[in-house]
Amino acid sequence: MCGIVGYIGRSEALPVLMDGLRRLEYRGYDSSGVAILNGGSLAVRKAVGRIANLAELIQSEPVHGQVGISHTRWATHGGVTHENAHPHLDQSGHLSLVHNGVIENYQKLREQLTERSHVFQSQTDTEVLAHLVGEAFDRSERRDKAALVEAVREALRQVIGTYGIAVLHADVPGILVGARRGSPLVLGIGKNEHFLASDVSAIVAHTRDVVYLNDYEIVAIQDDRFEISTVSGSGADFQISKVEFSAEAVDKGRFPHYMLKEIYEQPNSVRDAMRGRLSAEEATAKLGGLEMTNADLRSVDRIVLSGCGTAFHAALAGEYLIESLAHIPVECEFASEFRYRNLPLDRDTLVFVISQSGETADTLAALRESQRKGHRTLGICNNVASTIARESDGGVYMHAGPEIGVAATKSFTSQLVILTLLGLLLGRIRHLSHAEGRTIISEMEKLPDLIARTIELDKQIEKIAKKYARAENFLFMGRQANYPIALEGALKLKEISYISASGYPSAELKHGVIALINEETPSLFIAPQDAVFDQNVSNIEEVKARKGPVIAIGTEGDTALAKICDDVILIPHAPDYLTPILAVLPLQLLAYHIAATLGCDVDKPRNLAKSVTVE
Ligand code: G6P
Repeated sequence: MCGIVGYIGRSEALPVLMDGLRRLEYRGYDSSGVAILNGGSLAVRKAVGRIANLAELIQSEPVHGQVGISHTRWATHGGVTHENAHPHLDQSGHLSLVHNGVIENYQKLREQLTERSHVFQSQTDTEVLAHLVGEAFDRSERRDKAALVEAVREALRQVIGTYGIAVLHADVPGILVGARRGSPLVLGIGKNEHFLASDVSAIVAHTRDVVYLNDYEIVAIQDDRFEISTVSGSGADFQISKVEFSAEAVDKGRFPHYMLKEIYEQPNSVRDAMRGRLSAEEATAKLGGLEMTNADLRSVDRIVLSGCGTAFHAALAGEYLIESLAHIPVECEFASEFRYRNLPLDRDTLVFVISQSGETADTLAALRESQRKGHRTLGICNNVASTIARESDGGVYMHAGPEIGVAATKSFTSQLVILTLLGLLLGRIRHLSHAEGRTIISEMEKLPDLIARTIELDKQIEKIAKKYARAENFLFMGRQANYPIALEGALKLKEISYISASGYPSAELKHGVIALINEETPSLFIAPQDAVFDQNVSNIEEVKARKGPVIAIGTEGDTALAKICDDVILIPHAPDYLTPILAVLPLQLLAYHIAATLGCDVDKPRNLAKSVTVE
């Protein structure tokens, strides 16, 4: 949600900023802008819409300089207009600032500044922050690095809310200042150059040495040095980390879209989620990051899983997986509700928050609320340096690699794998025998190959997608652990193709949904060969009786579905607890091909952002 890139060094800033913005465009794409310093002169270029519009503008109005900040916006306060695009200037016009997050008390601050004769050009909370910093700087008698850092500090002490910011000032051209609270900011360390970014993928092409800033930290960067302190004025401890992935990992490679690339990466991402975590000898899963002994885990008598969007669907599937493998009751909570609901958390309840980005504001708030109650709270995250990963009391990494497509794909299957590992671990501490544990492990080891085989159905699914791409409504149905998969299939389609889609447990059809069935409304049934296959078939018959087209996901070898359904996609056989991981793949591909057929911007669907760092 919104992206920041800053550069200071001995090269031209603009190419670094533009490349970084393109890599961050998935975080927000309502408008974008750059501010570049050339000696004492400040040039700002902003454009509404995609980065391509900004690039076009800069071509006709070039800017040069070796210090700059830039931003790609996902609108919160103020509409999508040129005025509201970042960077924003202070009253003097010499200071420029980009901001991610929300300044909650901006109205009050704006009124106070207006009383002091400040004039605002935009409706944003960010411009208020720019004016506050500028005013503090102008009050200072000095025009140096320390004065700018102090001015940022002074302004930040007045704001309530969240921020990741980058600031430059024409009077102190050799310095960039960044700060964070609640919105991520990373410092990149190069040779005679330094970078600021809201996401490491923006700068990994230039350096893999980074410092992930903590909340309330301020960094001042020059070409050859950096200094980290805190908003309260004290020094800060920091650690230089190496980014694990390379710049190629954040490229599309041979694929037309990140989403398709990420769908195809799933044999590997699932393998990486299991790597080193299956012990054939003990016939169980090893999840050392939980930092809990078997005795601790044995006393767990209830599990709460929380997340947003796709991560919440993984939680719902996790409920079925863990209850069936470990016989422990599981409850799922939308992270956005968790924070405002007074959920009883007994001592022996284990709480997990699930988040690909590790930055989703609602999920972070759920983590903090659970911890505030004194409850040990664990995370399931992909982004290693994320706030949730750092603040949780332990957890499990997905190791899925960077996910750039806004619609989550590979992170979902990694989440399901981790929840299955958790079910296995907890089950083995309770009732699962060594032999049962061994069987589960050998089935899990087959997963990467089964996923690869399922993805080979791509061409067939593309044809089906073309056939139904003009539908205005879509229904997705499944039973038990495949019901959350139906929800996820519907979400994928809605997110990227804007077709109205809903997911239901198959049997719910007759309790209302059936009213929607007509010749134009396709229903997709997840109907593998399992204990509820016959029940699913009955529900399909109910739809066919009303002339609704049906696409079914069945198991290889099935011949019954082809007799009653319009289209059948047969996936490899797997045990019930692993079928959801295979069943979701055709749904991801179906959504992808429908959106691509309709000419939608698959990787950057309208109004969405990859990680939502505001409430
Ligand atoms: C946003 C994205 C969704 C994603 C959700 C949770 O809403 O558009 O695709 O599932 O956030 O993201 P997280 O990073 O916490 O898994």
